[in-house]
Amino acid sequence: MSITPPDYDAIIVGAGAAGLLCAALAGQRGRRILLVDHSPEPGRKILISGGGRCNFTNIGAGPDNFLSANPHFARSALARYTPADFLALVDKHRIAWHEKTLGQLFCDGSARQIVAMLLDECAAGGVTTAFGAAVDIAHRDGRFHAGTASAPRLVLATGGLSIPKLGATGFAYDTARRFGLKIVEPRPALVPLTLAGGEALFTSLSGVAAPVAASARTGPAFREAALFTHRGLSGPAILQASSYWRNGEEVTVNFLPDLAPGWLIAAKRAEPRSTVRRLLARHLPERLADTLAAQLDLSAELANQPDRALDSAERRLAAWTFRPNGSEGFAKAEVTVGGISTAELSSQTMEARKVPGLHAIGEAVDVTGWLGGYNFQWAWVSAAAAAGAL
Ligand code: FDA
Repeated sequence: MSITPPDYDAIIVGAGAAGLLCAALAGQRGRRILLVDHSPEPGRKILISGGGRCNFTNIGAGPDNFLSANPHFARSALARYTPADFLALVDKHRIAWHEKTLGQLFCDGSARQIVAMLLDECAAGGVTTAFGAAVDIAHRDGRFHAGTASAPRLVLATGGLSIPKLGATGFAYDTARRFGLKIVEPRPALVPLTLAGGEALFTSLSGVAAPVAASARTGPAFREAALFTHRGLSGPAILQASSYWRNGEEVTVNFLPDLAPGWLIAAKRAEPRSTVRRLLARHLPERLADTLAAQLDLSAELANQPDRALDSAERRLAAWTFRPNGSEGFAKAEVTVGGISTAELSSQTMEARKVPGLHAIGEAVDVTGWLGGYNFQWAWVSAAAAAGAL
């Protein structure tokens, strides 16, 4: 790689969400920044995010919307660079946006506008870019070297392992390990789960969606849609739960989160001639109602069902357990949970405590957001925290 001038204040590896904003903010503070990426095109995940419209933040983003071995780590950075700060940048560039649901902000037009905005901001900060060539980092005499360029600071912004075909690599983890930093085991997150054995029958519902509340053994219940697929379970509620799910554990689905306890016995009193299947079909898609009713094995009219059986059916519908045999893996995961341990980093500057000058930001760090614009917000806030220290 031939890059001039050879001396920079910082080299940032990874021109994704976090690296682009970090470069722009540091450049605009007068720092000489070299931003490198092995991909010829910066911000590829931004381009495909949010179905091409980029859910670039969530106005409600707070520490509770993130997973990390240290749930307090993100607090300070989140407080110092808020969704309103990023929105001000979006507004400055006259990018039209709308709130879709649950505080999720999307571009009206295209995710391309967000990448263009970040590249404009980099240009305004005089950032030097080198895209499309492999990056090799050496550390000598207290400086970080990339080809002929060197700097006293290096920012790891190469993201997680999700979607290798978009250029994801373990570069940040490997480099961090080389410097003796601990890694929290990376796992696919926001990922569809697969079903097998007796539960494989649910895959015949492929394409059926329903509003549910889904939860893993740890983590909250997410009230969003679940979607059955030809391989198992997906949809926002399942993707959210998947971030907390570990191999071998169950996922619990409440198929009727809006019904008050006792609804089934109350229905028996009100409509003794009805059936469980018919009642379910009032709230759920027909095919799902059929499958659940068949599994419950209560085909007779409600009048002929003992209260005890109806009570137990109601409980099962409110806490249906699936035991996925796996997930669709990093090839389909929207993000990676785990990464460079926050115990190694300053929450103020994202600098490694034991390697002065080495910073890590974005998805490479063990902070993972829920679905809904939180992962970009973490990319922005960690970028801003590091940029202030470059
Ligand atoms: P990011 O992955 O953006 O960038 C890393 C960069 O490093 C890439 O440019 C890559 O080429 C480069 N790189 C990797 N290895 C390298 C190496 N060895 N050498 C040099 N460069 C290297 N989030 C959200 O909040 N709202 C949303 O709408 C979506 N939608 C969405 C859809 C899909 C399909 C996916 C896969 C993900 C999302 N996300 C999301 C998640 C979001 O895209 C993700 O969390 C951020 O892009 C992470 O930003 P980073 O900058 O940390 O990594």
